Amino acid sequence: MKIIHILILLIVITLLSSNSTFSQTDSGTMPRIIEKDGRHALLVDGKPFFMLGGQAHNSSGWPGMLPNVWLSVKAMHANTLEIPIYWEQIEAQPGRFDFSLVDTLLMQAREHNIHLVLLWFATWKNGSNHYMPEWMKRDAVKYPNITGASGQPVDSPSPHTKAAMKADAKAFAAVMGHLKKADEQHTVLMVQVENEPGSWDSVRDYSEIANKLIAGPVPAELLKPEILKSLNRPSDAKGTWREVFGKDADEYFHAWSVASYIGYVAAAGKAEYPLPMYVNSALRDPLTNPPASTYESGGATDNVISIWKAAAPALDLAAPDIYLPGTEQELKVLELYARPDNPLFVPETGSSAEYAKFIYKVIAYGGIGFSPFGIDDNGQNAGEAGTAERLSAIAQEYAIINPMMRDLAKWGFEGKVKAVVERDDRAPQSIDLGKWQATVIFNSQEARVVQTGNRSISKAMIVQLGENEFILIGTLCRITFRPAGSDLGKAWQYLKVEEGNYENGIYKLLRIRNGDETDWGGPRFGSVPAVLHATLITR
Ligand code: DGJ
Repeated sequence: MKIIHILILLIVITLLSSNSTFSQTDSGTMPRIIEKDGRHALLVDGKPFFMLGGQAHNSSGWPGMLPNVWLSVKAMHANTLEIPIYWEQIEAQPGRFDFSLVDTLLMQAREHNIHLVLLWFATWKNGSNHYMPEWMKRDAVKYPNITGASGQPVDSPSPHTKAAMKADAKAFAAVMGHLKKADEQHTVLMVQVENEPGSWDSVRDYSEIANKLIAGPVPAELLKPEILKSLNRPSDAKGTWREVFGKDADEYFHAWSVASYIGYVAAAGKAEYPLPMYVNSALRDPLTNPPASTYESGGATDNVISIWKAAAPALDLAAPDIYLPGTEQELKVLELYARPDNPLFVPETGSSAEYAKFIYKVIAYGGIGFSPFGIDDNGQNAGEAGTAERLSAIAQEYAIINPMMRDLAKWGFEGKVKAVVERDDRAPQSIDLGKWQATVIFNSQEARVVQTGNRSISKAMIVQLGENEFILIGTLCRITFRPAGSDLGKAWQYLKVEEGNYENGIYKLLRIRNGDETDWGGPRFGSVPAVLHATLITR
């Protein structure tokens, strides 16, 4: 063969092999989650991306409801819409799939330049089977619910029924296979598998088949020393569920059963198209270790995350839906879900100011997204003004963060962001910044002026750009600095405090803050977030 032929052959081989790397499963362009030093980034187009999300109401994924959904997304300055897709609609006839609503969502999201997180409402929706197709609901023998401790019916599907699990996996795989073909642009960033799975009203299934399983041995996957340790059990424990887990056996067994089922469904979808996938959870009080009978048992609550990890490796993360009533509980939840093996993502929370403040903490943890629930007006036609008013607390945060989102996502991933939120005691909080210590004083007097009642809503975020250089973002607080470490006690001053805004990733100066705007205890933040760029020196 002549040299020229060999060269042509080599070029053809290179082109063919590089062509295959342009397929949608290309790890360079697929949305994917990476981890470094226990922090995470969701890579979109190969770069860290923070989902400024909003979730539509449960029944708003229908074409006639979408105009108000997009109105809300726009009013919020969101970059991602979380929206349900429904098993009952997609597979109304067994084995016949209708992806028309999915296609409408893809098309409209692209028109609005918004990413999607699709929520697969299937076997479990808030613990019930209500989104199963009619043909399944009509066949309670083949697709049973669980049985309560006294034999009573419970409105929650059985995780022990292989027929339902296989049907769900088949339908979900069809959805993911369709997405692979229909979404070359990667409009969809992640998929939530089911919705708040588990069971209300019964800690587990007490059917004959479940009773038999729980009397058997704990599966080997759970008997690994690190998992047993995380569940406060001796590293060599083995035996039946009751022998290994004692009083927690019922809940742990149910968590294992639900997670195994969903892990199977997720794996079937991932085999078609490996987008990041997660499960969302209704929470328990993370501070008081309440009995499982008081919350939705079987879901990925903070005490059973390691069981979910072992049972459902196809899921990339367990995500908390934060609606708990107090700041202390929410902060604890964020701490418990931000684990090296679990990227922090808040797929549901309230849209009012007392919840909006937690986005600062999620960014600081190196999390990947935040999303208030129920952003559209659920058919009430609130109009543009009503929508903007309803979403104003979160909208003002997103308006500031969106144009600097890529930078913030990167800084969060690199561990450069620290954040504090006003706690229920409203006490000042300090942030260690190496050569400096910042103290954030929350301004509850101004909080009253903006009529927030008695809620603690203030927060501050500090990005450390250099030893003496910081970006400060916050509301209703004041940030003061003092030299720390070997510089403790030294005289110091602000070299410059700039105030401005990011526009398309570029910082635009509004003014230099000085005089009254930095003296008297450091820069103040009002009820609308500001972005300051501060440089400090010691003398
Ligand atoms: C949590 C669920 O996950 C959502 O789908 C919705 O039902 C909300 N609760 C309602 O507050």
